[in-house]
Amino acid sequence: MTNSIITYPESLALAQLPTPLQPLDRLSTQFSGPRIWVKRDDLTGCALSGNKIRKLEFTLARALAQGCDTLITCGGVQSNHCRATAILGARLGLKVHLILRDEELDGNQQATAADGNLFLDYLAGAEVSIYPKAEFQARQRELFEHWSQHYAAQGHKAYLIPTGASDATGIWGYIRCIAELIGDFKQADIHPSSIIHATGSGGTQAGLSLGCALHQLDAQVLGIAVCDNAAYFQRKVMADISAWQNRYEVTSLPESLSVQVNDDFIGPGYSKADPEVFATIKKVAALEGILLDPVYTGKAFYGMLTLIEQGYFAAARDIVFVHTGGLFGLFAQREQLSF
Ligand SMILES: Cc1ncc(COP(=O)(O)O)c(C=O)c1O
Repeated sequence: MTNSIITYPESLALAQLPTPLQPLDRLSTQFSGPRIWVKRDDLTGCALSGNKIRKLEFTLARALAQGCDTLITCGGVQSNHCRATAILGARLGLKVHLILRDEELDGNQQATAADGNLFLDYLAGAEVSIYPKAEFQARQRELFEHWSQHYAAQGHKAYLIPTGASDATGIWGYIRCIAELIGDFKQADIHPSSIIHATGSGGTQAGLSLGCALHQLDAQVLGIAVCDNAAYFQRKVMADISAWQNRYEVTSLPESLSVQVNDDFIGPGYSKADPEVFATIKKVAALEGILLDPVYTGKAFYGMLTLIEQGYFAAARDIVFVHTGGLFGLFAQREQLSF
């Protein structure tokens, strides 16, 4: 499969595309490294902001083609993917059931207050089931099965979407984003050496890495892990790519395919960030008007700035940060920011 013969499967036009590519010159000057550009995938929509919309354009087309009228998916209580699915379900007239993991909840406590993404899940009319982390992890497969049968018994047909829509079909979203970036780079007359982004369930990284290889774009894709380690993401990304090969009958992968993950910036764990990340969020908002979140983009952006300071991009003229959205998660952690 090369650039000229990439055949995309059916997709729905749900995201506001193309998103802008914008230089951050005040910030770049302060760091005296490469010129930093931001691909504004936080602008794929208002409540539909972020990277999940590109993936769901393909995932939901598949769900509709299979005659499904219900979407079941899962994630953390502040999952951007679940919020996007809830809102898209409402837009398309599909029932949505979210299986959510609460990091803080133990068996005896009240569920987390409906703030940030969870607030929007309820507003969009999704059914929400919240489980303590240990139960969620132990029973995830069984819970999908349980809710799927529950809807089948009512005469509905459910389509099951894995965490982050990171699977064989979701990958297409960021393969296609590379084609868009190639057009952006041409227009801006730049040849960025690196494309940096937050990696959480691996689908964005799988799409960008595979997209560069398929579209023959000579740039390093660097995923900054926000939860699991680099070895985990190497395995996850390659497993998703392998599932993509099987589903779309792709016999061989381009030799230039490479998956690079940095796991130095996970900090205290998923959805928990160090004070440096919150300081970065404040700085970038005040200096450039770009809004980052503590779970994904703030962590990854802090990682990128640290790597610039360490000279990692010393030979680069231009680098691109893919802003994957996540703003609503910031509201749920507002107490971490003092003014
Ligand atoms: C705002 C945001 N950025 C980045 C990511 C990471 O993307 P992926 O799950 O495809 O690795 C996610 C979701 O996990 C997200 O919600």
